Amino acid sequence: MKLQAGWVPVALSASIEPATSAGAVVEGSEIVVWRDNSGNAHVWEDRCPHRGMRMSFGFVRGDHIACLYHGWQYDTAGQCRYIPAHPTLEVPQTIKVPTYSTTEKYGIIWATTASEASLPDIDAVMGTTPVRSLYIERGAGDVHPVLAKMGISDLVGNVGILQAGDDRLLIAVQVILPKKTAVHIVILGSPAINAGAKQKHYAQWAEGLRFNLEQMAEVA
Ligand code: FES
Repeated sequence: MKLQAGWVPVALSASIEPATSAGAVVEGSEIVVWRDNSGNAHVWEDRCPHRGMRMSFGFVRGDHIACLYHGWQYDTAGQCRYIPAHPTLEVPQTIKVPTYSTTEKYGIIWATTASEASLPDIDAVMGTTPVRSLYIERGAGDVHPVLAKMGISDLVGNVGILQAGDDRLLIAVQVILPKKTAVHIVILGSPAINAGAKQKHYAQWAEGLRFNLEQMAEVA
């Protein structure tokens, strides 16, 4: 799914700590996923308007992110607020990084440019426990049918549920490139219950899932 088409999962919430940033790609578009010191997540185009440096290489300072190259600082709306080489300059409003709507639900950070988009409603979610993000060298067109064959039900758009014994796993698919896909996995259930052995168990299971997806997709 493209960012214009609806909510796209771009990272596990747990993988982006406060005051950190990471680069990601959605259908070829480079994005930065970052979290300010207050804990709010942001997803922007991964390109500084000055000379094009990746914002994901930058530094988070409070509720600003500063570009690594010349230190221009941007607020949470993407507006440039401070240029170190011209500290007294009132920065023009036109110097802005394109931003995407961002939300967090089910332990995942989602982004979109669609004006109206809704996330699937999953019943009875009493917290979530992160498992891991898998990066698979296969296109989503190969991955989706394999996930369906593995019994992942309700695969609506880019989100599905796998019932594994008493556990329910949320599987969220991010298209990266034509031959690269990310699968973000969380246990639907509180970390107070699932962290530790279960988390480890499903992280190992996820490794097997990647192997299967890469092998099975070859013959699908
Ligand atoms: S390229 Fe970002 S501040 Fe110069």
